[in-house]
Amino acid sequence: VKQVRVGLVGLGTVGCGALNILQKSAELMTQRSGCEIKVVMASARDLTRSRPCDTTQLELTTDPMAVATSPNVDVVLELMGGTDTAKSVVEAALQSGKHVVTANKALIARHGNALFALAAQQGVQLTFEAAVAGGIPIIKALREGLAANKIEWLAGIINGTTNFILTEMREKKRTFEDVLKEAQALGYAEVDPTFDVEGIDAAHKLVILASLAFGMPFNFEACYTEGVTKITQADIQYADALGFRIKHLGFAKQGAQGIEMRVHPVLVPKTHLLGQVDGVMNAVLVKGDQVGQTLYYGPGAGAGPTASAVIADLLDVVRLMAAPSAAVAPMAVQDSAVKTRAAARIDQIKSAYYLRISAEDKPGVLRGITQALADESISVEAMNQKAPANEGQTVDLVILTNKVVEASMNAALEKISQSAGVLGEVMRIRVDSLN
Ligand SMILES: NC(=O)c1ccc[n+]([C@@H]2O[C@H](COP(=O)([O-])OP(=O)(O)OC[C@H]3O[C@@H](n4cnc5c(N)ncnc54)[C@H](OP(=O)(O)O)[C@@H]3O)[C@@H](O)[C@H]2O)c1
Repeated sequence: VKQVRVGLVGLGTVGCGALNILQKSAELMTQRSGCEIKVVMASARDLTRSRPCDTTQLELTTDPMAVATSPNVDVVLELMGGTDTAKSVVEAALQSGKHVVTANKALIARHGNALFALAAQQGVQLTFEAAVAGGIPIIKALREGLAANKIEWLAGIINGTTNFILTEMREKKRTFEDVLKEAQALGYAEVDPTFDVEGIDAAHKLVILASLAFGMPFNFEACYTEGVTKITQADIQYADALGFRIKHLGFAKQGAQGIEMRVHPVLVPKTHLLGQVDGVMNAVLVKGDQVGQTLYYGPGAGAGPTASAVIADLLDVVRLMAAPSAAVAPMAVQDSAVKTRAAARIDQIKSAYYLRISAEDKPGVLRGITQALADESISVEAMNQKAPANEGQTVDLVILTNKVVEASMNAALEKISQSAGVLGEVMRIRVDSLN
């Protein structure tokens, strides 16, 4: 049996998880790949730290570049994160003729185009299954399982931290700040929680999914990104009363004006499967022209789930070392077929909307609001008036509209916010029945 030598860059949650699988399931790994896979080297910042994995048999270094360029390493697992050092490390590994497996969505979404070009030029593999939705094999599903389909759209809950926050707010009526603190203590949130709650992490993943779905270069700048920081307890309860759950979703869709890539909160029907995905779980719904809708559900983070995806990639790489020409195209279509596509702006999308308008409780206010909507030909599907707790003469007007182009909604909101008796900013959340 041939031996393949692996170098680990990063011995954190995912790095240790990967090392544990390779050590504890060594025989199964050989049965699956036909090779003996041996981790020979690893890097971390602090070599004195105690870790939940056994590094005694490895050559250890604090220099990730030493792993990337070592003549004793055939495949590098980049599990350090970030886009600065990690980028140099991956480039150096590829330039040294090594295959690279990464879990780093920020790196792929922002620098993937150049990195894949380099990998192709060097004749080596660069794989990233773990970068999107952790343990869910969604990259393999898009590239291989759904290869017969034109993808029409996909929608996913792809950030466990925000899903956990929204779930806890709904089920336990807790505040956003309170749940975020717990998510950080439980280790769900990124070190810098803005990546989670402002939707940046989800945008990285969505951009990767969109590129594979539509065979186009990664285009992170074209992704509209909105987080969950403005969602209040009141919105969650009002949505619930109307039969909806508020979920933070990533959408990639072939729209009339181009490819829509957007990450934002959405009201989805309670009864829809995506509405039932709670806590830290992830799910991606994919609509193919032949298969119809398929749903992929599972843990999006954590040592075991993420390492599961990393090792699946590693096994692919090891198998392909014997027959590189049999590799599946990294972008799901042959490199020559990857083409840039027009990106839709967010004001060009068509959506239904949930509006929460705080207003004075007096005659005429409602007329101003409905007039503003009528001026833009927006019709109202449902309307509720609620008195928020502890407020005197104000009411919350909750409105569900029909589908309109977002630019029309923006124009109506502009008028509503200036309309007599309307207080503060109008809360607007897109509504999607996902069918
Ligand atoms: N955690 C998850 O559930 C999950 C899920 C999907 C994808 N990912 C991705 O997987 C990657 C790793 O995440 P993680 O959660 O395992 O991170 P982590 O626990 O923070 O581990 C990072 C590792 O890299 C090392 N490292 C970081 N910066 C370094 C530097 N400048 N020089 C040398 N070593 C450095 C750290 O060393 P020390 O240990 O000495 O600090 C640590 O061992 C990231 O790209 C992340 O986005 C993670």
